[in-house]
Amino acid sequence: MKIFDSPQKLQKELFGLKCDGKKIGFVPTMGYLHDGHLSLLRIARDKSDVLVASIFVNPTQFGPNEDLDSYPRDFKSDEMLCEKAGVDYLFYPTNEAMYPDGYSTYVDEHVLSQVLCGRKRPGHFRGVVTVVAKLFNIVMPDVAVFGQKDAQQVRVVQQLVRDLNFPVEVIVGPIVREVDGLAMSSRNTYLKGDDRNRALVLNQSLLLAKSMIESGESNALNVKKAMLNKFKHVSGISVDYVEIRNYDTLDEIELLDGIILIAVAVMVGDVRLIDNIIVWN
Ligand code: PAJ
Repeated sequence: MKIFDSPQKLQKELFGLKCDGKKIGFVPTMGYLHDGHLSLLRIARDKSDVLVASIFVNPTQFGPNEDLDSYPRDFKSDEMLCEKAGVDYLFYPTNEAMYPDGYSTYVDEHVLSQVLCGRKRPGHFRGVVTVVAKLFNIVMPDVAVFGQKDAQQVRVVQQLVRDLNFPVEVIVGPIVREVDGLAMSSRNTYLKGDDRNRALVLNQSLLLAKSMIESGESNALNVKKAMLNKFKHVSGISVDYVEIRNYDTLDEIELLDGIILIAVAVMVGDVRLIDNIIVWN
């Protein structure tokens, strides 16, 4: 595995491979890798000749009061996991390499990124879309794999690819969970004591919603109420949002019909966790 910190050098190397007809698969990450990330690397590996992963805790997608400084990092372990997963090129740039002095160009999506986490975290998707656009230009992937864990991010990236004509196939990997149902996340490491147990209510609320819909409930408000009620009974939890939306448009829906995204964001103590489920009805 080769490790690059220079965008220009990596771009040059990968351009050579592309000219030789190699298919490039790419998984962007912020590191502190877990089985969720590794599942995406496996998908990309199967779809490509050359596997590229990036590890970059992207400062532009963090708000001023968010966890940029404390975001967990462990490059040595990530490096080992990437090597084991068959990564050919690991891109590990510095902030200065990605956002040099005088940096002034941003990419903004104006519809899908206005709701859900976008409303709660102003500027977050501007940072995500900008860094993903930069990474796509540097890596020039044929295939890029993103996780369903960040459902809105997937939709926003798909929109970026469509609107700005990136020649990339976006593949979505399913959510990987701990055995007890908690969606894997680098931020789970923040959960201490009882909070780890309390966090199980996210997945439980989504399973409740799914079973209500499968049993014939057709009113989104009833499902939302039942989910909120579930959260009410767990101490130490404050709900950021519980939303039921059309997965394609991310519009709010009343009638449970089509491809439905049920998404939750919750503070467990001072840790913000998100989870979601997609239900076809
Ligand atoms: P990060 O949170 O490190 O996630 C990297 C990729 O792993 C994302 O596509 C995310 O959806 C996926 N992922 C995280 N947890 C997962 C799980 N439990 N199961 C399956 N996939 C999971 O998302 C980002 O980084 C950044 O926003 C990034 C796209 C790298 C841009 O900075």
